[in-house]
Amino acid sequence: MIIAMDGPSGSGKSSAAKGVARTLGYRYLDTGAMYRAFTWWMLERGVDVEDAAAVASRAGQVIVEISTDPDAPGIRVDGTDVSEPIRTREVTGAVSAVSRVPEVRARLLVLQREIMEDGGIVAEGRDIGTVVAPDAPLKVFLTASEEARALRRAKEIGTVSVETTLADQARRDRLDSTRATAPMTKADDAVEIDSSELGLDEVIEAIVRLAKERG
Ligand code: C5P
Repeated sequence: MIIAMDGPSGSGKSSAAKGVARTLGYRYLDTGAMYRAFTWWMLERGVDVEDAAAVASRAGQVIVEISTDPDAPGIRVDGTDVSEPIRTREVTGAVSAVSRVPEVRARLLVLQREIMEDGGIVAEGRDIGTVVAPDAPLKVFLTASEEARALRRAKEIGTVSVETTLADQARRDRLDSTRATAPMTKADDAVEIDSSELGLDEVIEAIVRLAKERG
């Protein structure tokens, strides 16, 4: 079975998706890491990420390989491990500009569907339930209040204030949900879970329960 998990930044998707995958013995796919890897590649080569035509013309050159082991996630671009550098503020600030480019999305869509083909996977992102796997038997849209999300992200990053994180996050969510191609949106048949008041274990438990009901 495929479990699709979408939602805004900082909603706790990654931790929850990994936890669900471990509990069920499933694989795990972090599609955000793939967009981040493309962004890292563009920045490394000095491509102006605001120039959609420039990004589009290079999209075919990027080679990404991603691990689907929830206990050993990681991503390589042209053979280089970029698991850490894709989390910098620079990449985070540029990723929405790259991910709005249709040529980038088209390439990653093919790759994501290939990886998900055999099922037994929890995939997280922004458009999994709507575009990548519209037939997934379980779709979860994970949300949390803006404050709860910014607090979590600021804690993860450690060096920036909650205010800065709040502003960065609001900007990214606005760009991700208003772009023309595959905007972030809750699928009609997705179950919405608000994690503001829930612990990670409770979120994982709720999703595992739903998966067992539907599996
Ligand atoms: O999940 P994460 O915050 O790592 O995602 C980084 C960015 O990648 C998002 O802000 C969004 O621009 C893009 N993304 C996307 N579609 C997905 C997953 C991520 O556009 N399925």
